[in-house]
Amino acid sequence: MEKLIYGSEISKNIKLELKDKITALVESGKRAPHLAVILIGDNVGSMAYVKGKSKGCEEVGMLNTMFTYDDTISEVELLEKIEELNHDDTIDGILVQLPLPKHIDENKVLYAIDPSKDVDGFHPFNMGCMMIDQESVLPCTPKGIMRILDIIGYGDLSGKRAIVIGRSNIVGKPIAQLLLRKNATVTIAHSRTKNIEALCAEHDVVVVAIGKPRFVKKEWIKEGAVVIDVGINRSLDNKLCGDVDSEDCLEKVKYITPVPKGIGPMTIAMLLENTLEAYERKLVR
Ligand code: GUN
Repeated sequence: MEKLIYGSEISKNIKLELKDKITALVESGKRAPHLAVILIGDNVGSMAYVKGKSKGCEEVGMLNTMFTYDDTISEVELLEKIEELNHDDTIDGILVQLPLPKHIDENKVLYAIDPSKDVDGFHPFNMGCMMIDQESVLPCTPKGIMRILDIIGYGDLSGKRAIVIGRSNIVGKPIAQLLLRKNATVTIAHSRTKNIEALCAEHDVVVVAIGKPRFVKKEWIKEGAVVIDVGINRSLDNKLCGDVDSEDCLEKVKYITPVPKGIGPMTIAMLLENTLEAYERKLVR
């Protein structure tokens, strides 16, 4: 049985469906959905992510406008730009690529985005709704992980133990909540957790988003576990690799997502889906 789950393949199908829907909208005389992306500075990782998002938009026939600033932009100037986009009826989704330069308060920026255009699902309103299981925009990476679990028959996690390694606002905290929603018994582990190896080996589903190349080894993995590797790192030999030593773990897992071609493409597909949903909520003419 194939153990590698290619998000790249799954996301192709999602993008085809989105493309069909957008083509039908445009053919009926409506404008295409439109994503605004704000990129600040020259962080190599951020530039690559933003390029992938913009390519994704093009693939499905979505409009995208990129606003790039150098990292001397003031907080006020950025907040004014967001306000302008909030009021622009031709823009359906706004994404500010993180991380931001140190002099800009990330919380203020995330608060400033109109929650109905917050296609990242990072606004405290959307995060709060997610916590109480109300309908909301879900953050793209956690949403993509849940879609994969659904596809491999792990849509209901009743009786299963899931561990999330990493506690970021973008992945760790929200994925823990979504796993809980699907009835998993959830553990959140992080850099201060003791005996993380033995703890991890008690779990049926392992989601790793800690940003350390090949951090998780086969001794950490329970026989037959499902492993979701969110990390994208460069190893010492300059190869792209995840947070899991996947070659080492392969014999023990039931399923594992590769890096690259695993979770990354799912994040982009979910962003496109969130943008189309934001557009549909507005009933654009
Ligand atoms: N930086 C790393 N991942 C993300 C993401 O999903 N969205 C945004 N806006 N910034 C990021």
